[in-house]
Amino acid sequence: MSKKIILSGIQATGKLTLGNYLGAIDNWVKMQEEYECYYMIANLHSLTVRNDPETLRNNTLKILAIYIAAGLDPDKNTIFIQSQVKEHAELGWILDCYTYMGELSRMTQFKDKAAKHADNINAGLFTYPALMAADILLYQADLVPVGEDQMQHLEITRDIAERFNNLYGETFVIPEGYVRKASKRIMGLQDPTSKMSKSATNLNDVIFLEDEPEVILKKFKRAVTDSENIIRFDIENKPGVSNLMQIYSAITSKTIEEIEKEFEGSGYGNFKTKVAEAVIQKLEPIQIKYKELLNNPEYLEKIYTKGAENARELASKTLNSVKEKIGIIV
Ligand code: TYM
Repeated sequence: MSKKIILSGIQATGKLTLGNYLGAIDNWVKMQEEYECYYMIANLHSLTVRNDPETLRNNTLKILAIYIAAGLDPDKNTIFIQSQVKEHAELGWILDCYTYMGELSRMTQFKDKAAKHADNINAGLFTYPALMAADILLYQADLVPVGEDQMQHLEITRDIAERFNNLYGETFVIPEGYVRKASKRIMGLQDPTSKMSKSATNLNDVIFLEDEPEVILKKFKRAVTDSENIIRFDIENKPGVSNLMQIYSAITSKTIEEIEKEFEGSGYGNFKTKVAEAVIQKLEPIQIKYKELLNNPEYLEKIYTKGAENARELASKTLNSVKEKIGIIV
C-alpha cells in the first residue's frame, strides 16, 4: 500500500518561534517515516505583508535550514520553496474563482492581520486561504499537520475541495487537519492568553528558535504566572503556568499528570528554570546544525532545487487534471 501524503508549510516572514517548532516542525519530524511528506516554505504567502526583499530572501533560506537542522531528512521528504513550483500560483488563481467573499471575510487570520496592517489590506491578504488550499490540494494531501490557529484555513480548504469535486467529479482528496494536543497552541510568555507569535511587539513574549541559551533562560524566568505558587494545570485561572506545563509536556513527552507530580511542592522559580533547561537542551543541537547549514548555501540550493523538481511532478499532474475538467487548454 502506498503511504499517505502530508503537506505543510511555514510563512517566510519573520523569525521562527518555539510555537512554530512545537506546533509544526517537531510534529513533521515525527511523521516523516510513516508518510510521504511535502514540506514547503510559503514565501508567496509572505507577500501579503510588506517585506524587505533581502530579508525575505534570507528568511526563506533560514527556514529551509531550520527544517533540516530540526531533523527533516531531505532524502526522505520533499522540501521546497513554494514560489519555485509555479503550479501553486496557477491553482491559487483558479481556486480564487471557486471561493466566496463571504467565507473569506470570516477568516480570523484575515481580520487579525487587517487590523494589524490597516494601511495595507491588500487583495492577497483576503484571498490568502485560496492559495493555501492550492498548496494542499495540489499534492492530494491526506493530512495537514498544523497548529490550531490554521484549522480554520483547513476547513475552508475542505469546503473548496468538496465544492470543486461536486461540480466536476472526484478531483481532490479531502484533507484532514492534524493538531497535536500538547502543542496545538503555545501561548505568549508575557501574555499567556494569546498565541506566541512571530510578530509580537514585546520580545519577552516569544522564544525565537535563534535565541541564545541565556536569553531563553531569562525569558522563561520572566514568564507571567500567578500568585498561587502551585504547579497545576488550569488554563482558565492559571494560563501562564498551564502554558509552561504544555511547553514542558511537548518537549519531554511527559503527561500533564506526570508534570504535576514531578513539581509537587516546588515553587515557580525552580519550575521555570526546568522548563527553560528542557527547551535549551532541545534547541541547542538544532541551533548548531542551523548555523552550519547557513554557511553552506550550495548545499541548501541543491536541496530546494531537487525538492521543487519532485514537487512539480505531482503538482503538475493535479493542475493538468483540474484544467482539463474546467475547460482550460493544457
Ligand atoms: P505560520 O507561518 O503562521 O505558522 C507555521 C506553523 O506554525 C504553527 N504555529 C503554532 N502552533 C502552536 N502554537 C503557536 N503559538 C504557533 N504559532 C504558529 C501554525 O499553526 C502553522 O502550522 N498559512 C500558514 C502557512 C501555510 C500552510 C500552507 C500551512 C501556507 N500554506 C499549507 C499548511 C498547509 C501560516 O501562516 O502558518
